Amino acid sequence: MLNGSKVAVITGSGRGIGREISIRLAKEGFKIVINVKKRLEEAQETLKEVSMYSEGLIVQADVSTRDGCKKIAEETRKSFGRCDLLVNNAGLAIAMPFMECDDKLIEKIVSTDFLSVIYCTQEIVKIMPEGSSIVMMTSLSGIKPMKYLSLYGSLKAAVIRLTEYLALELSPNKIRVNSIAPSVVRTKMGDSLLNFLNLKEEEYADKYTLTGSVIFPKEIAATVVYLLESPNINGQTLIIDSGQSLMLNFPGQQ
Ligand SMILES: NC(=O)c1ccc[n+]([C@@H]2O[C@H](COP(=O)([O-])OP(=O)(O)OC[C@H]3O[C@@H](n4cnc5c(N)ncnc54)[C@H](OP(=O)(O)O)[C@@H]3O)[C@@H](O)[C@H]2O)c1
Repeated sequence: MLNGSKVAVITGSGRGIGREISIRLAKEGFKIVINVKKRLEEAQETLKEVSMYSEGLIVQADVSTRDGCKKIAEETRKSFGRCDLLVNNAGLAIAMPFMECDDKLIEKIVSTDFLSVIYCTQEIVKIMPEGSSIVMMTSLSGIKPMKYLSLYGSLKAAVIRLTEYLALELSPNKIRVNSIAPSVVRTKMGDSLLNFLNLKEEEYADKYTLTGSVIFPKEIAATVVYLLESPNINGQTLIIDSGQSLMLNFPGQQ
């Protein structure tokens, strides 16, 4: 157990990777701030599982807005007094040819995948004690371009670079900042990506990975804990991609 009194904020934690990270951190003794934009029933499901191990708080807030991120920080402070770990997890992946992205879509992706990280980090750092950590959920598409993910991938690349800048700037506060860059994780988002590529999970795993498997959200949650337990990893991006980046045949890269 890391520390029974610590507090973690996980954005976009009503399902998928965010839910799994919340449950794992609850098992590690963290009090958990669960965030959803709208779907309270998904948040309740996460809370039910979190409550088996620890205390949880649901904050309904849109992290793509400054006010939403202020609300998360304020409610965390009121309920738990501080935040020891922020996981900037909320994200939106829309596959679309670059020339077809209209202003509405551009604004939505930029605010969800990039502004949210800026706003949430600025608001939450104000309530972080020394020794805290930030983990960004980025993506392999931020490292290796994938056709039709131009906006999403570029914004994830920006978050990877921001990770390095923040590791530098926040080191006087003794706050570490790292990122995790997965390929296909078995969640709603991962399923949509495979659908878009017209691939069944088994076919993707057989043809386009070295390990013969997609990634499971539990592996991402375990990596968050690994980063927490590794005080000398700072400013880094850990790639978890089933070996996909070593394969030269991935459909989105041709
Ligand atoms: N799954 C993959 O294959 C994969 C690969 C690489 C990286 N990632 C990254 O991992 C993170 C988690 O992805 P996932 O696979 O768990 O996706 P997911 O199943 O689609 O979950 C994303 C969560 O983020 C929430 N969210 C989106 N916009 C939000 C906002 N403005 N405010 C608050 N919550 C918001 C979503 O809620 P609503 O839908 O209700 O808005 C949803 O609960 C994302 O950053 C994603 O880019 C995923």
